[in-house]
Amino acid sequence: MTTTANVFQNYIGGKWQGAQSGQTFPNYNPATGELLGHFPLSGEAEANAAVAAARAAFDKWRLVPAPKRGEILYRVGELLLRRKEEIARTMTQEMGKVLKETRGDVQEGIDMAYYMGGEGRRLFGYSVPVELPNKAGIATRDPVGVVACITPWNFPIAIPTWKMFPALIAGNTVVIKPASDTPLSALHLVETLYDAGLPEGVVNIVFGPGSTVGEALLHHPDVAIISFTGSTASGRHVAIEAAKSLKRVSLEMGGKNAVIVMDDADLDLAVEGILWSAYGTTGQRCTACSRVIVHNAVRKQLVDKLVPRIEQLRLGNGLDENVDVGPVINASQLEKIHSYTGIGQAEGATLVTGGSIAREGDLARGHFYRPTLFTAVRPEMRLAQEEIFGPTLSVIDVASLDEAIAVNNNTPYGLSSAIYTQDINRVQRAMRDITTGILYVNSGTTGAEIQFPFGGTRGTGNGHREAGIAGLDVFTEWKVVYTDYSGKLQKAQIDQ
Ligand code: UN1
Repeated sequence: MTTTANVFQNYIGGKWQGAQSGQTFPNYNPATGELLGHFPLSGEAEANAAVAAARAAFDKWRLVPAPKRGEILYRVGELLLRRKEEIARTMTQEMGKVLKETRGDVQEGIDMAYYMGGEGRRLFGYSVPVELPNKAGIATRDPVGVVACITPWNFPIAIPTWKMFPALIAGNTVVIKPASDTPLSALHLVETLYDAGLPEGVVNIVFGPGSTVGEALLHHPDVAIISFTGSTASGRHVAIEAAKSLKRVSLEMGGKNAVIVMDDADLDLAVEGILWSAYGTTGQRCTACSRVIVHNAVRKQLVDKLVPRIEQLRLGNGLDENVDVGPVINASQLEKIHSYTGIGQAEGATLVTGGSIAREGDLARGHFYRPTLFTAVRPEMRLAQEEIFGPTLSVIDVASLDEAIAVNNNTPYGLSSAIYTQDINRVQRAMRDITTGILYVNSGTTGAEIQFPFGGTRGTGNGHREAGIAGLDVFTEWKVVYTDYSGKLQKAQIDQ
């Protein structure tokens, strides 16, 4: 399946369609400003058409045996593997992160395709003994209906696969509204699904703003589940609005993730983990490290090792294999990130390096921010509490493990944490007392694998998890079937 060059369309019920209004929005490369294409500026009408198509396809798709649904996902995995380089390059052009990371993003989608393909032959329910003779009970997973996936720009292939693949393997149908900064990557994913043999209408893609397309999905009576990844403010709005029609809502939102470095840590190892998790993806991961909580006995040593390494990071176009850090996604994010440098300085933190927009040479064409480090940050400062979603890292001093854990836990978010220590007792205490959804020992805050549950506590989520078996819980409804083969009326709890 191919699309017409540079003017792209929604794919609804097996048909390419523009917005009824004829309007489009542009997609730009954040490293160069180059125009990559035009996408339909859809609204309620297109969202409604997509839900209708998904609803119509559900009746048949839910009856396709799950192992057959799984075979389609295996083929998706094969196709993504074959197209990995091409899709990764498009993604780098579209959202800026360096090629080795966009390859990783596609790989995460491949992993999810194989994992959820395998679930086609599992989708385990259970059978447990029942109280009465000649009676049986089983619990099985049913699909729920139409799932609306509202996905972000920072993992434009991986995150849609975390939502769509478990939804599909369980027999649901999908409408996806990808972020307007990364429409092309999402379109590649949908094309791959159809090339793998997905029946028409099972997945529908609608491009356009959250304020129109997202709102329409949120309020549509035939949408059973909303799976959303994005900011905590938008996620809260999704939860409140969806509650009015009792939709199921799965939210993955912000983070303020920390690396704890204890006085017995391998500091060189810690430096590698901090650099990768703070400045990889230009700090634009939900799991990115934005705080280093360091024992004051090793703070100076750690900062002395860290700063030259930060200053060596090469900024530029992610297609250049020598570049370490790509642009940030767009002008408004650049402005927001820069505003936190001002906020940090006004709060009395010490700006050690970075803190400015990079404009030299070709960088002027894109949205580049210098990798930034603040020290003397206090845990209650906005710099240390609010999600910045950029290459800005704060160093907070502490005097003990207990204090480190308290500081770690004390933010409105709870996604990922890391601790560097050689002491098994400290590791065990961290495992017990840290209250984020993910904890790394002697590694940075990023690097989650799809066979485990992904998500967080407090303002990061609403109790659901994506990926792993837990991911299936979002997209299935338990059904319990009791069969009484005694030939007489047996009353549970009454007949003994
Ligand atoms: C995200 O930033 O929303 O663990 C996802 C990681 C990646 C996924 C990040 N595997 O950083």
